[in-house]
Amino acid sequence: MFRVNENYLKLPGSYLFSTIGKKVSAYAAAHPEETVIRLGIGDVTQPLPPVVIEALHKAVDEMGNASTFHGYAPDLGYEFLRKAISENDFQARGCQITPDEIFVSDGAKSDSANIQEIFAADSRIAVCDPVYPVYVDSNVMAGRTGTYDAATETWSDVIYMPCTAENGFVPDLPKERPDLIYLCFPNNPTGETLTKVQLQEWVDYANREGCVIIFDAAYEAYISQEDIPHSIYECKGAETCAIELRSFSKNAGFTGLRLAYTVVPKALKDQNGTSLNALWARRHGTKYNGAPYIVQRAGEAVYTPEGQAQVREMVGKYMKNASYILNGLKEAGYEVYGGVNSPYVWLRTPDQMTSWEFFDYLLENAHVVGTPGSGFGPSGEHYFRLTAFGTWENTVKAVDRIKAL
Ligand code: MLT
Repeated sequence: MFRVNENYLKLPGSYLFSTIGKKVSAYAAAHPEETVIRLGIGDVTQPLPPVVIEALHKAVDEMGNASTFHGYAPDLGYEFLRKAISENDFQARGCQITPDEIFVSDGAKSDSANIQEIFAADSRIAVCDPVYPVYVDSNVMAGRTGTYDAATETWSDVIYMPCTAENGFVPDLPKERPDLIYLCFPNNPTGETLTKVQLQEWVDYANREGCVIIFDAAYEAYISQEDIPHSIYECKGAETCAIELRSFSKNAGFTGLRLAYTVVPKALKDQNGTSLNALWARRHGTKYNGAPYIVQRAGEAVYTPEGQAQVREMVGKYMKNASYILNGLKEAGYEVYGGVNSPYVWLRTPDQMTSWEFFDYLLENAHVVGTPGSGFGPSGEHYFRLTAFGTWENTVKAVDRIKAL
């Protein structure tokens, strides 16, 4: 009789956002009279920018014409998009990333889950705690676990680096050497970030110790302060120790369209001189047939001057929500973080409530959905996340309801 991959049996029964989705659907079905406002999962609510819609229409028309039709996309991405990315996201910031170091894909979630495949099976990983659950789950699927501690829901082979108010939500360098270090800044879920000087310390550590940093910059478009790096390649030496993940979901509203990219510099090599760029290209070639032509054209449109202006406007709307949440909760006496360089606001639960107790309390009394901090890791306990990706009307309603509790 066949057997399944036992690593999968080590995973929690359902993914955090699926658990929340089920709880909220059950509540909504039992209370049809209540209007539930969802500020849980970080999904966008603004329609796609007009330039993106125009580019999609044009590309769809090309697909219907025999002379401009496109079949399989190149598995690493169309040159027009890789070039636009390298010029706008990197060279414009002084980072020497070239198109052949950019791998276009259909999402940063899948890239962040898949990238671990190119590393040795016994690689040790380090993650910020709280952490975007995909980083840990994908390594559990790959068998990098050790023993499980049910009380803290942690694995002995994973190095958890606490990020709490006490250390300003910036992890300390690990005491034991990891092989892979996952850093996400601006951070999901805390909404906090680190300065270029702080990130440089991580880059220096990784180069000194022979580690790879997997830097998730999905929220870089939300950075409003000067000394916060948009890319890890703004740090000296990052091209020999860092992979960067980027997404079109949060900056340009592509959650339903799907487009992202990963940067693997050619200078990034393992101890035997094997190029990670070549390995990731090999992996793409075997497992991926490329993001759709029409979606890559839509991505290209984001980099036009009109596209950039429209995207800035969209980000501005979400950041207006973030300020409203941040200020409203402060007025209501909450201890709040994030929301300045990020669309996430992170709050400490009142009266020592656990994160899930606060989730239930908010759902039942304000009919507002957020994300329990403990779902992101043990250091997230007694914290709670609200997203600024709702509509303005719902954001105002939700904050006013919370203030009235
Ligand atoms: C979140 O809510 O943390 C994000 O939307 C999840 C994701 O981007 O996959």
